[in-house]
Amino acid sequence: MSALEVGVVGLGYWGPNLLRSLSRVSQLKVRYACDLDDEKRAKLAHSYPQTRFTGNFQELLDDRDLGAVVVASPAPTHADLARRALLANKDVFVEKPLALAASDAEELVELASERDRVLMTGHLLEYHPAVTRLKETIEAGELGEIFYVYTHRLNLGVIRRNENALWSLAPHDLSLITYLLGQEPVEVRAVGHSYLGGEVEDVVFGTLRFADGKLAHLHVSWLDPHKERKITVVGSKKMAVFDDMARDGKLKIYDKGAEAPEYRSYGEYLNLRFGDIVMPYVPNDEPLRLECEHFAECLAERKQPRSDGHSGLRVVRALEALQHSLSAGGQAVSLQSTLLARESGG
Ligand SMILES: NC(=O)c1ccc[n+]([C@@H]2O[C@H](COP(=O)([O-])OP(=O)(O)OC[C@H]3O[C@@H](n4cnc5c(N)ncnc54)[C@H](O)[C@@H]3O)[C@@H](O)[C@H]2O)c1
Repeated sequence: MSALEVGVVGLGYWGPNLLRSLSRVSQLKVRYACDLDDEKRAKLAHSYPQTRFTGNFQELLDDRDLGAVVVASPAPTHADLARRALLANKDVFVEKPLALAASDAEELVELASERDRVLMTGHLLEYHPAVTRLKETIEAGELGEIFYVYTHRLNLGVIRRNENALWSLAPHDLSLITYLLGQEPVEVRAVGHSYLGGEVEDVVFGTLRFADGKLAHLHVSWLDPHKERKITVVGSKKMAVFDDMARDGKLKIYDKGAEAPEYRSYGEYLNLRFGDIVMPYVPNDEPLRLECEHFAECLAERKQPRSDGHSGLRVVRALEALQHSLSAGGQAVSLQSTLLARESGG
């Protein structure tokens, strides 16, 4: 039996990227590739002669030699497929979002813990070298105390019909925000609108408030003139921007801020500081390759991934709360009270 044999489920838009990247990780063998659609399987099968292509997910679960399952099917199927895989004692990688309901995500986290299984969520950006460097910069205190962050994930297209811009685009931003700040929001608000005649919001603006006063704002849209994938972090000492669309210098650290001269009390008189802009060296490694290698390492060393089930759960909780607010026209939704109610069985 080899724990490093994996099966990929879902070969639509994203699954083939995972199939390719996982196949290139030397410690892994992609034993199965599964999709309900015959054509999707037929298109890929000739490129992977060592992999068995099947339309039957149960076949993967019944194979006792198969160690892990990678779920890249549509989001509404994640919880069910991941639950079945964990119950069959497989390690599991689930594309984002981990589930569509926090209660399902919680169950997956508990199941993985009870059965001592690796549970990883496909929060790709947590493996981006620029994000790793930004996290190190924040943790080293270089930016000072973090005040607030905001993200833009904008483009014209890809227009979705079955999920809104929040669920389609914001998981990446929420994983970034919670990863970089190391905490979950206590209260969120969201407003959005459907402009293209569908039933789902094409643009969503969300705000997250954290217990220590930090704020985060996210703007997601598939109806926008700009192609932007950007996060700005404003700290008491410096500010940082990660711009994933930039060709060079995806990460920039701005030595800018506002500070009180020592001889006066704060607020009485503030000096604006305009210093150097530094572009730290960031290796040009593909995040998807790093993500797949990290999964292999976690399987081999039996450790929980950077973007583990808890990370997936934090993002689903935030999405669920933002969706409640969106549906209620932008009302504040408290996550703390939801968490407390759950803990007390309410
Ligand atoms: N990490 C990223 O940057 C990124 C990018 C795009 C998509 N995704 C995620 O990847 C997942 C898939 O998205 P997509 O755009 O590829 O979707 P898609 O609809 O293009 O493909 C999904 C595939 O899953 C198959 N499928 C559905 N149910 C199945 C089942 N029970 N068993 C086997 N196959 C099944 C479908 O036939 C389809 O081919 C989503 O969770 C999405 O959020 C992640």
